[in-house]
Amino acid sequence: MDKLLIAGGTRLDGEIVISGAKNAALPILAATLLADEPVLIGNLPHLRDITTTVGLLRRMGVAVTMHEPMRLEIDPTTIDDLVAPYDLVRTMRASILVLGPLLGRHGSADVSLPGGCAIGARPVDLHIQGMRAMGADIDLTDGYIRARASRLHGARIVLDKVTVTGTENLLMAAVLADGVTTIENAAREPEVVDLANFLNSLGARIRGAGTSRIEIEGVERLHGGEYDVMPDRIEAGTYLAAAAATRGRVRAKRVSPGDLDAVLAKFAEAGAHIDTGDDWIEVDMRTRRPQAVRITTAPFPGFPTDMQAQFVAINAVAEGVGVITETIFENRFQHVLEMQRMGARIRLEGNTAVSEGVEQLQAAPVMATDLRASASLVLAALVADGDTMVDRIYHIDRGYECIEEKLAQLGASIRRIPG
Ligand code: UD1
Repeated sequence: MDKLLIAGGTRLDGEIVISGAKNAALPILAATLLADEPVLIGNLPHLRDITTTVGLLRRMGVAVTMHEPMRLEIDPTTIDDLVAPYDLVRTMRASILVLGPLLGRHGSADVSLPGGCAIGARPVDLHIQGMRAMGADIDLTDGYIRARASRLHGARIVLDKVTVTGTENLLMAAVLADGVTTIENAAREPEVVDLANFLNSLGARIRGAGTSRIEIEGVERLHGGEYDVMPDRIEAGTYLAAAAATRGRVRAKRVSPGDLDAVLAKFAEAGAHIDTGDDWIEVDMRTRRPQAVRITTAPFPGFPTDMQAQFVAINAVAEGVGVITETIFENRFQHVLEMQRMGARIRLEGNTAVSEGVEQLQAAPVMATDLRASASLVLAALVADGDTMVDRIYHIDRGYECIEEKLAQLGASIRRIPG
């Protein structure tokens, strides 16, 4: 298993280009299954989760051709197996996203129940309930979701809880259904909007994406097309957090600043100078120590849970007492235990991490446990005294393209140790 060796103490300074968004690319790749002509998808990030999804499509018989790095032509017409098997799904929970498209387009789907990040229960009951409301017959047997329908019909679905992939799955299932579907209490994340824009570019009729009420008028077919995935707001936020923690300056290029409003507000509260253009954001600490901040995670447009761990790292070295409350996932504080081993003064009170910032962390061997937790350990290592070895970084490779190259470009002393 690869590890990252990081020598702490460098103030980051520089510019980096942000990759395509993993969480938009995954549903968009799944959504290509709805088309009846080839589709070209560009600006895909070079990540393990993307490779897994492409592997899943290929396993189903879909023809995938690489045109240039990270631009794929997907021909869904060659599909001959409507199954997402356990060995692929267990490595990536987002494989559940093929359920809606398979059922909507082919009337049949056998999808293994997902594994994925070890953060809380993360059930998929709302995906299943919504598809049943559209007329699907769904059984859970042998660890598989077995769904059948002749043609789904429109329905009014009120989600009990805001769910991102749940909204996306139901949206995809509804695109070819008979009649109008409305999803109430829908997720408003920019990735949902990107998926809807992609589907509309193929002939779907979706209105209201980005609001909590999405309306989908079913159409007979989707044609082919070409689409570029949106930039990754969480990747951008993570590098900007690295600037804040190291008292440095980072300019993230090729991003949409509007997607990061809640996060930028917290950088400002921490004392950063923020500058934005049409497609870039700069966070500059001007060598000053950050101020501790108070955060409660919430669905978009609230503060994203995927940026929680990175701000725990900032608070760990900030001036004052920081309070971070996680409301989306239970058990998403494993990074706190690792940071304590690096000398952070953080205590957990239920779903809240209360920190008393220290001037500097100390290097220690640490272990990544999930995607964003591992990013926060890299941040902690960047501000620690000494050399930190971060183990199990396959979690990082699921969500960050060439993290060591991008950080090195910003001046960090970081090296991948193959294992
Ligand atoms: C997506 C993102 C993930 C992000 C999360 C929250 C992708 C591929 N992943 O995950 O990076 O951290 O949104 O912004 O886009 N829930 C249920 N029943 C369901 C579905 C969800 O109770 O059927 C609960 C979950 O347990 C969780 C909450 O709803 O407590 C939100 O989860 P959800 O938005 O579904 O997360 P994901 O879509 O899996």
